[in-house]
Amino acid sequence: MDHRITLGVRHTLEPYSNVRPEDVKRHAYAIVTWALPPWPCAGLGSLLTSTIPQLPLYTTILMKVVQSGGTLIDVGCYCGTDLRRLIFDAAPQDNLFGTDLVNQWDLGFELFRDQDKLQVKFIEVDILNPNTELEVLNGKMDVISATHFLHNWN
Ligand SMILES: C[S@@+](CC[C@H](N)C(=O)[O-])C[C@H]1O[C@@H](n2cnc3c(N)ncnc32)[C@H](O)[C@@H]1O
Repeated sequence: MDHRITLGVRHTLEPYSNVRPEDVKRHAYAIVTWALPPWPCAGLGSLLTSTIPQLPLYTTILMKVVQSGGTLIDVGCYCGTDLRRLIFDAAPQDNLFGTDLVNQWDLGFELFRDQDKLQVKFIEVDILNPNTELEVLNGKMDVISATHFLHNWN
């Protein structure tokens, strides 16, 4: 998993999460070990790496969310790594939402140590069976991100 601990990951964990440089590796391994069940990709350290900046449309997404004040929901956000990346890239937190089948964001709070400052609204919901918390957002999102998500249904 060492290859996942890139400069980009360090640039998040050191200044944003206040993890000392010499502790980054130990911290990342500790969180990933906790994350192991039930997703195999978590065990490979995928939660450390944000997916959204790899999208060809990422600049367009940022313009929509940062410059135009648009809203974004991350469906299947897991622990919220992409949402932190958007915040790093100046997205207003109030405009960001994350959903997942189960609460994985507590893991994100452990990884990024930001429970006291993260304002993103997380919604625990089965996307195939929307609840009222999700339904109130219907028609209000400018961007719906679903990275590494649709493969759940093959
Ligand atoms: C591989 S992770 C993707 C994490 C992140 N989006 C990324 O790009 O790395 C897939 C996520 O989809 C969530 N998921 C699976 N089925 C779901 C459902 N029916 N409703 C909501 N989330 C679901 C899982 O809990 C898991 O966190």
